[in-house]
Amino acid sequence: MYTRNGQLSIGGTLVKMMACLTSDLPPGSMISVDILGHTVLVANVDGQFFAMDGICSHSLAMLVKGRLDGTVVVCPRHQARYDIRTGRAIGQPIGVEGRAHDLRSYPVEVRGGCVTVDI
Ligand code: FES
Repeated sequence: MYTRNGQLSIGGTLVKMMACLTSDLPPGSMISVDILGHTVLVANVDGQFFAMDGICSHSLAMLVKGRLDGTVVVCPRHQARYDIRTGRAIGQPIGVEGRAHDLRSYPVEVRGGCVTVDI
């Protein structure tokens, strides 16, 4: 069952889903994973792992096709910018109408070489 804030709860326990292995994601890289129907972007920033929604809020581009510049994810389509740590939109699309909005970020845990996301 889903809680009020959209987390999956089974028997009262919030579910953490394995996203990838740490070895799949070297520093400075990102990967897109489908978790329970959500496209989630997972990134490794200097050995720290972060996760947020993987679809741009402006016009639905796959953010994994963009680039990771430190903690900033740049959308491949119109260059909106998001902070991977918080999901916050910190830069708006360039040369087109419409705005980017904050994305949802997710807690990440690394244990035993596995990266899990708490969605
Ligand atoms: S689709 Fe991402 S900035 Fe336009």
